[in-house]
Amino acid sequence: MNEDLRRAEASVEKLAATRNDRWYPRFHIAPVGGWLNDPNGLCHYNGRYHVYFQHDPYRPTWGLMHWGHVSSADLIQWRREPIAMAPDLAGDRHGVFSGSAVVSEAGELVVYYTGHVWLNGVDRAGGVRQCQMMAVSTDANHFEKRGVVIDTPEGIAQFRDPKVWRQGDSWYLVVGVGARDGSGEIWLYVSDDMVDWRFDRVLYRSTLPGVFMLECPDFFPLGDRWVLVFSPMGAHPDGFERRNVHNVGYVVGHWRPGGDFEVVADHAELDKGGNFYAPQTFLAPDGRRLLLGWMAGGPDQPMPSQQDGWCSQLTVMRELGLTADHTLTMWPIAELDGLRIGTDTVDAFVLDAEESRVIADDLTSGEIGIEIDLAASTAERVGLIVHATTGGDETMIAYDVQTGRVVTDRHRSGAGQRGYRSAAVVGGTLRMRILLDASSVEVFLDGGREAMSSVVFPGDGERRVEVFSEAGTAAITALAVHRIGTIYE
Ligand code: FRU
Repeated sequence: MNEDLRRAEASVEKLAATRNDRWYPRFHIAPVGGWLNDPNGLCHYNGRYHVYFQHDPYRPTWGLMHWGHVSSADLIQWRREPIAMAPDLAGDRHGVFSGSAVVSEAGELVVYYTGHVWLNGVDRAGGVRQCQMMAVSTDANHFEKRGVVIDTPEGIAQFRDPKVWRQGDSWYLVVGVGARDGSGEIWLYVSDDMVDWRFDRVLYRSTLPGVFMLECPDFFPLGDRWVLVFSPMGAHPDGFERRNVHNVGYVVGHWRPGGDFEVVADHAELDKGGNFYAPQTFLAPDGRRLLLGWMAGGPDQPMPSQQDGWCSQLTVMRELGLTADHTLTMWPIAELDGLRIGTDTVDAFVLDAEESRVIADDLTSGEIGIEIDLAASTAERVGLIVHATTGGDETMIAYDVQTGRVVTDRHRSGAGQRGYRSAAVVGGTLRMRILLDASSVEVFLDGGREAMSSVVFPGDGERRVEVFSEAGTAAITALAVHRIGTIYE
């Protein structure tokens, strides 16, 4: 281990020693100490799954980016691994930025990432230089950096987040670009040997007003179509869409090597919660396309866990699907059921108008499955109050009959961000799956057609869960409450 990595490890240990765990996730990947953002290098290698992530080991704010690392044999229990890469080359001296992993023909783990340099040596005021770099490992822990493989194109500054895959005899790479004319683009490169890369074409150009950069592109086949996922910078809110500073978009179409990406459905928003950004996917050995996102918080948003020595977490891992109408679906991977440590099921019942029932006295780490027969209900609003404390903090997840949407409402969620986010539901029966961790709420609707991921920071003490009905009755046809254990070995 080199000196930079040793220093980074020592710093994380120091932060972890005094970490306050009131909001520390039990079943979401989070930094032991310091800061986390994008998931990177997702892969299955030498019999284990690997998740790397953007990590500042020195402070719980975005800063000097390293690659943190955890691994798992079964996607249920996770092991903390040493920090994989530190910024120690001229080309990455101010940040080992986001990237991806593939396995070479020779069986090495090859990662591509963005080397980041502040031109004035300290901050963005002087501009940036970003290029694509390569590093190789045979044990997923020790990486030999091989330097720059795609240099910064003339006249471009924002140039980052390479995602690589193999197809036929060639290797392909997509990368996010702030184009010369100020728009956000995704460029495609091709290589025969993983080292020499040639520009193929502009694969996609943002159609949204205000967008000047598409971060973290990911391009993959799902059934008979291709999906392009990206994280636009500069998008404007529009009604229920893109309410966050950080939001994620996707496009569905057709593509084959050597051709253009023919878009059939342009720019839908993926995950309508308050905190979801920079997701990355990978192909599991059994053929599932799996995704992890960052439950993002930005410098403009209150992130109370920074007082506790850590900041930010990833979502649970999700399996992707694509419907006939080009909706990208996300559903927690089946392995997550393996973390359940107790289940209470409740028989069907009808809630009276203004009735509320406690279904768990203290659920910090758990899951709720609820089915509501909307056709047999007259309520204007029906749903759950979660993370409810004796101090009066609570988060509401409820169906609003007037808008036909499920709302995640953080108007009284404790410390942290406020506001509400919502997603439309279809049909006469509402099925919600809700994952609750110490500082997050993830809501999945309609088998994964909609998801909402948000962070919450409730006050001290027990965290009650209630089911309620407002201004009418509600027919609850199924209800289960699961307790969830911790992911760490
Ligand atoms: C997205 C992002 C990436 C970049 C990384 C740096 O959140 O800005 O574009 O590589 O974070 O931490």
